Amino acid sequence: MRKLTNVLVTGGAGFIGCNFIHVLLQKTPSFKGRVINLDALTYAGNAASLADVESDFGGSRYFFERADITDRAAVEAIFKKYDIDTVIHFAAESHVDRSILGPEAFIKTNVMGTFTLLDAARNFWADTNADGTKGIRSDVLFHHVSTDEVYGSLGDTGYFTETTPYDPRSPYSASKASSDHLVFAYHHTYGLPVTLSNCSNNYGPYHFPEKLIPLMILNMLEGKSLPVYGDGKNIRDWLFVEDHNTAVWAIVNKGRTGEKYNIGGENEWTNIDLLHRLIDIVAEKAKLDPAKVRSTITYVKDRPGHDRRYAIDCSKLKAELGWKQSVTFEQGLAKTVDWYLNNEKWVEGIKSGDYKNWVEKNYTAR
Ligand code: NAD
Ligand code: TYD
Repeated sequence: MRKLTNVLVTGGAGFIGCNFIHVLLQKTPSFKGRVINLDALTYAGNAASLADVESDFGGSRYFFERADITDRAAVEAIFKKYDIDTVIHFAAESHVDRSILGPEAFIKTNVMGTFTLLDAARNFWADTNADGTKGIRSDVLFHHVSTDEVYGSLGDTGYFTETTPYDPRSPYSASKASSDHLVFAYHHTYGLPVTLSNCSNNYGPYHFPEKLIPLMILNMLEGKSLPVYGDGKNIRDWLFVEDHNTAVWAIVNKGRTGEKYNIGGENEWTNIDLLHRLIDIVAEKAKLDPAKVRSTITYVKDRPGHDRRYAIDCSKLKAELGWKQSVTFEQGLAKTVDWYLNNEKWVEGIKSGDYKNWVEKNYTAR
């Protein structure tokens, strides 16, 4: 039986991690434990995303620790301080374009950082088996959050299943694939209780506006051009972030130890079709002229090695754990656009940081 009492969430100040903490502490009454958020607050981490959680649960059921997952001493100290029994590992460098511009940080955080966490967990959870041999406690769990991008790129047909061979093609996906292999290596070699999930593209509140959907929303609101890579026909499967997080929590509770689960939206869109749909929603809600917004679509140079299509078969998760998506794409996009329109302070906070410089240097000239 898993304890699920002192839950270490890494990367909890990022997009998916902060949504996860919101879901767990505000919408999961069956969870009575504590959440310890370990985050280095890189450009993608934002303490403001958890201001409400901090004020409602800070010091009782929510604790923030600013630390780097590659810092072994800091990680060990946190395991000890909070008697961690569960790790849900979101922390990562997560943006493909940044991995193309500078892969090193991806290897450091995604590979070395995951290794450091795994090894600290193995050490902290060490136990002695009934026969006197060395073992690991069975009431603990290390859940690793990964991406469908580890499977590579699909043609016009077919889906990624849990048995699809890994074929990562960007520095980002290669670093995530490497971390996935380490997770299972720690399970098979040392008996570390692990689960792993590979999810498709998320969207929703608190999404850093370097990724497609929030970048396009903010550019529309500012009257900036809408940069579409290549022919705009690359396909992604989109899932509302809360649905990703309910799936992660279901796996952490009931997923079989040593198993991986695909998570997806069953919701494939070409980038250009998605953009047109998004323009309709933003134009209506922000009272913009959709034709005028459409005229700002600009086809730009393609991303090097741009994966053509991702599509997920998540039937294992649905059949075994009874999970399903809770919102349609229409509903999820409407909620997302509303969130960006209603959270100007958060958006301004991002824009006043390094974001503007980075976008201007790397995106505007495309
Ligand atoms: P994000 O970039 O928004 O957030 C990453 C968080 O990790 C930030 O808070 C950052 O400060 C923290 N972090 C980065 N390096 C760190 C380090 N060395 N030590 C401690 N903290 C560090 O990422 P996200 O979109 O929320 O993704 C979370 C996880 O989900 C990642 O593992 C990613 O690979 C995976 N994932 C993302 C998507 C997606 O669509 N965004 C889809 C599938 C899987
Ligand atoms: P992104 O949000 O970066 O996610 P990922 O690369 O992990 O799938 O990109 C989603 C898709 O949108 C991808 O095919 C690249 C494309 N894209 C654009 O066309 N223009 C942009 O400005 C961005 C950021 C992405």
